[in-house]
Amino acid sequence: MADQQQLFKVVIDNITIEVAPGTTILQAARQIGGEVAPPAMCFYSKLKGSGGKCRTCLVEVSKGSEKDPRPMPKLVASCRTTVMDGMEIKNITSKRVIEARAGVVEFLLINHPLDCPICDQAGECHLQDLGYEHGKAGTRYEFQRRTFHKVDLGDYIKLHMTRCILCYRCVYVADQLTGKREHGILDRGDHSEIATLIEKNLHHDFIGNVIDVCPVGALTDKTFRFKNRVWFTKPVDAHRDCSKCCGEVQLWMRGDEVFRVTARKDEWGEVKDSSKGTPGWICNECRFEKKQVADWELEGPSKINRHSVISQGHYVGVQKPAETFSAIMGGRKPRLFMDIHSVSEVNKPGIQLSLIEGPATSDTFDNAPTPEGA
Ligand code: SF4
Ligand code: FES
Repeated sequence: MADQQQLFKVVIDNITIEVAPGTTILQAARQIGGEVAPPAMCFYSKLKGSGGKCRTCLVEVSKGSEKDPRPMPKLVASCRTTVMDGMEIKNITSKRVIEARAGVVEFLLINHPLDCPICDQAGECHLQDLGYEHGKAGTRYEFQRRTFHKVDLGDYIKLHMTRCILCYRCVYVADQLTGKREHGILDRGDHSEIATLIEKNLHHDFIGNVIDVCPVGALTDKTFRFKNRVWFTKPVDAHRDCSKCCGEVQLWMRGDEVFRVTARKDEWGEVKDSSKGTPGWICNECRFEKKQVADWELEGPSKINRHSVISQGHYVGVQKPAETFSAIMGGRKPRLFMDIHSVSEVNKPGIQLSLIEGPATSDTFDNAPTPEGA
């Protein structure tokens, strides 16, 4: 077995693993899995050249290699550093890493608004998770923050540049999937912004994938914006015969209504490979135009990590508690004093959600809004 590949032995957070030469520290840590894998806001294994922008994946190399055991003086970006034989790495076991990551999160949050309560990415936002894990309650920043107007990028995508963390993932998607990039990062330093120059619309069958790769709520699906919280919807795996893409998707349903269609994601939040072994990017037709259950062959509920907020309310065999208010008030329902409709830009004033029977549907917002007082 002379040509059997020699593997490198590396230790990450006291766990030993053998990986092929050329593997990055991040990919080696992902092979171990769980908390040992550093967070990654800009690296995306299916996009060539990604990584090295956000610094959330910093780790400490406490032993360089078997041949040269000196530690690396600075923390390194694990998505861009390849392993050496005998390397020892610390992620969650390093105080320096935890402190540095808190600093990176503080930097990312300098301009990023904390508008999670109205942001469509809430519940699936990696920055939100990092903010909870490492963020501070207050800010030390005293200057004016960067703000931008929202921009319509074509019929289906909305750019909310104020939330962008300049990870470049969407630029790589446009470069590598559509072959017809019309947007990029303009200007430098704190003037940098994602733009289509003269606000050209992005038209390509696969451009919708920028929504799936955006780690925050900067690029959102206009057919889903503000229609539901992701944790109220139920993810279901489904497929259809599609001539453009693999046709293997996740439907985000409430009752029988399909609110949103996305590619299927793996445990790292990246698009999964399709059953044919190719990356499971999906086309705009599947994503934006197939919103009827009849368009799809349903496979069954998607498996969601039970620690994700999305899994809330989707327990099997749950017994709901009795309605205490009406029980103690002789069957009467409590009166609610708060009316959020007049104070939120998210709610259209003409639509009174409290008067609609059952959950709101797309029709409530698009075609047949319930008139005030109806
Ligand atoms: S819009 Fe989203 S995907 Fe594009 S650079 Fe900004 S954060 Fe990254
Ligand atoms: S994931 Fe490594 S620098 Fe962003």
